[in-house]
Amino acid sequence: MKNNILEIQKFQDRNPFESFKKKFIEELDKVEKFKKLKLNSNVPLVSEMSDYQLNTGGKKLRSILTLASSALNNYKGEDHFKLAACVELIHSATLLHDDVIDNGKIRRGKKTSNIIWGNHTSILVGDYFLSRCFEIMVEVGSLEILKLLSSVSSEISQGEVLQLQHQFQVDITEQVYLKIINQKTASLFGAALRVGGCLANKNENEKEALQSYGLNLGIVFQISDDILDYQSTSNFGKDIGNDFYEGKITLPVVILFQKSTEIEKKEIKELFKKTARTSFDFDRIIKLLNKYDVLNICKKRAEHFANVSSDSIGVYKESSIKENLQSLPFYLINRSH
Ligand code: IPE
Ligand code: IPE
Ligand code: MG
Ligand code: MG
Repeated sequence: MKNNILEIQKFQDRNPFESFKKKFIEELDKVEKFKKLKLNSNVPLVSEMSDYQLNTGGKKLRSILTLASSALNNYKGEDHFKLAACVELIHSATLLHDDVIDNGKIRRGKKTSNIIWGNHTSILVGDYFLSRCFEIMVEVGSLEILKLLSSVSSEISQGEVLQLQHQFQVDITEQVYLKIINQKTASLFGAALRVGGCLANKNENEKEALQSYGLNLGIVFQISDDILDYQSTSNFGKDIGNDFYEGKITLPVVILFQKSTEIEKKEIKELFKKTARTSFDFDRIIKLLNKYDVLNICKKRAEHFANVSSDSIGVYKESSIKENLQSLPFYLINRSH
């Protein structure tokens, strides 16, 4: 029994995400308090929607990454709390917008804001979050970080638009898919890491290494999110199949289309041409995905980026933070939520 507990403990310790959460528990609390303070509004509906967004939580992965990068770089000041909050708020803003675009109904196991308060207010509150982020960045006063995070904010919007442009187009290349996810997701991960290097006045090579780690981690994260949309079982916190029903072309569909026979290609094209896809259509796609083992192929693709991510910070000297960061991309490939 004792041995068993020790084994479980060892396994938990090898979960880099959980160990970061434990390590940064106090810092994360400060980040949350700062976010709450900054989102304070004298318009009751804005306060209500901000509170809802804060209370639903989420994994807080991006703010953890900024804290981890600051620690890896031995940053000794206080601005990393503010910037971790900022990075997480940019993420929350994009989720508010994204759920309007994607017709998202469930997020973090709860109703989305657009379902409760409608699309118009959700978009405006997303804009409100972004405006508060800019105030935080001005408060911190680093032009370098302001430039970095404002360019990320424009990258995200462009990635989301590019994705819409290719909606229903089952024959897009992996190259196009990668461009979309680089912009809409990975850019923020890259910045979340680079911020730590900027704060600690690291040289350009080190900042590049951090950003490369983050960008490649972001690619892994989005690929695994796109896999989970087809195979999640319990605690994903979002509706399974949403990408398919919305006609969003993600890596599983791109690879499936590449592997299919001519007859299957025609069938897949027809499915994505329909004005609405049914649960029977979803079952059919799952069958085809299984036939070609597509989700495992997607995982293999993610592994490539996990290696690039992990190796990017090889230049740093050994530490438990580095070790955790290096195992995180591999952990994220097999996450369940
Ligand atoms: C969701 O991100 C958006 C994607 C880039 C896939 P998360 O899964 O990190 O969202 P929360 O914050 O934990 O809910
Ligand atoms: C992430 O893509 C979108 C953003 C970067 C905001 P998804 O559309 O796949 O994210 P989820 O699945 O809704 O969380
Ligand atoms: Mg979405
Ligand atoms: Mg998704």
